[in-house]
Amino acid sequence: MNNSKIAFIGAGNMANSLIHGLINKGVPQSNITACDIDQEKVQALVDTCGIHTASMIDAAKSADVLVLAVKPQVMEAVCTELRKVLSESGCLLISIAAGVPLHSLEAWLGSAQSIVRCMPNTPALVSEGATGLFANANTSDAQAKLAEAVLSAVGICSWLENEAQIDMVTALSGSGPAYYFLLMEAMEQAAITMGLPAEMARQFTIQTALGAAKLAASSDVPPDELRRRVTSPGGTTEAAIKSFESDAFRSIVERAIGAAQKRSIELAN
Ligand SMILES: NC(=O)c1ccc[n+]([C@@H]2O[C@H](COP(=O)([O-])OP(=O)(O)OC[C@H]3O[C@@H](n4cnc5c(N)ncnc54)[C@H](OP(=O)(O)O)[C@@H]3O)[C@@H](O)[C@H]2O)c1
Repeated sequence: MNNSKIAFIGAGNMANSLIHGLINKGVPQSNITACDIDQEKVQALVDTCGIHTASMIDAAKSADVLVLAVKPQVMEAVCTELRKVLSESGCLLISIAAGVPLHSLEAWLGSAQSIVRCMPNTPALVSEGATGLFANANTSDAQAKLAEAVLSAVGICSWLENEAQIDMVTALSGSGPAYYFLLMEAMEQAAITMGLPAEMARQFTIQTALGAAKLAASSDVPPDELRRRVTSPGGTTEAAIKSFESDAFRSIVERAIGAAQKRSIELAN
């Protein structure tokens, strides 16, 4: 990856985190180019990271891999503008746009274009992302490895067996950070209602989430076993878990994730 030319169309949140992650992984700044309609955003990246900027067409011409990091609603216009230059350059296109299926990308770019469609999530902004990837049939093994290396710069990556799994990953990890934020909101509010000072309720909620995630990530036992280990019979944790279970906590979560998957399918259609 370090010798590949990587270009970004769109220099917003996701491009920023990916570019910082790539530089941290040792990709030379001189191999990274970004462009954006907002020149100030690109200039900030050039100033802080030492990368190049170029017009969209020039960036695409010299790239081995082109990351489309614009909002889904502008993807068609951007792809249509890039179609000719991409058909001549043979570079890999990575799309991180939510809800834009491969068949749309192929219709806009031509059916010979190699494309990897990804679903990253916002913790990529702090290098703790989780990304599902799916490649179209034109993508070579070397291009697939390149896409994986780019997205691995900001967290973990997994290849999906089929494109439909993108909707499942969207429902699990794409939307998932908000589920944890909701639980944090509810825990913080419950602590305040019990009488803890608001600032302490917030800090202890966040630290507990961070601590639990770190324990789960560093442990070789699954979360259910970790939960059992901290749930003494007749103790306080057991009282809370019994209350969650009697309120059908698992069904609530299953229905919510199912609703997100359904919405992801609707949006792609
Ligand atoms: N953020 C996430 O957590 C997340 C997670 C998964 C997937 N994604 C996907 O990642 C993509 C980027 O998201 P983001 O949060 O990074 O968005 P963002 O911060 O809005 O960045 C997109 C940038 O692209 C610029 N832009 C718009 N049209 C352009 C054009 N024709 N040429 C060049 N640049 C153009 C936008 O400028 P203006 O602001 O001036 O329009 C903006 O600076 C989206 O498709 C989203 O679905 C994001």
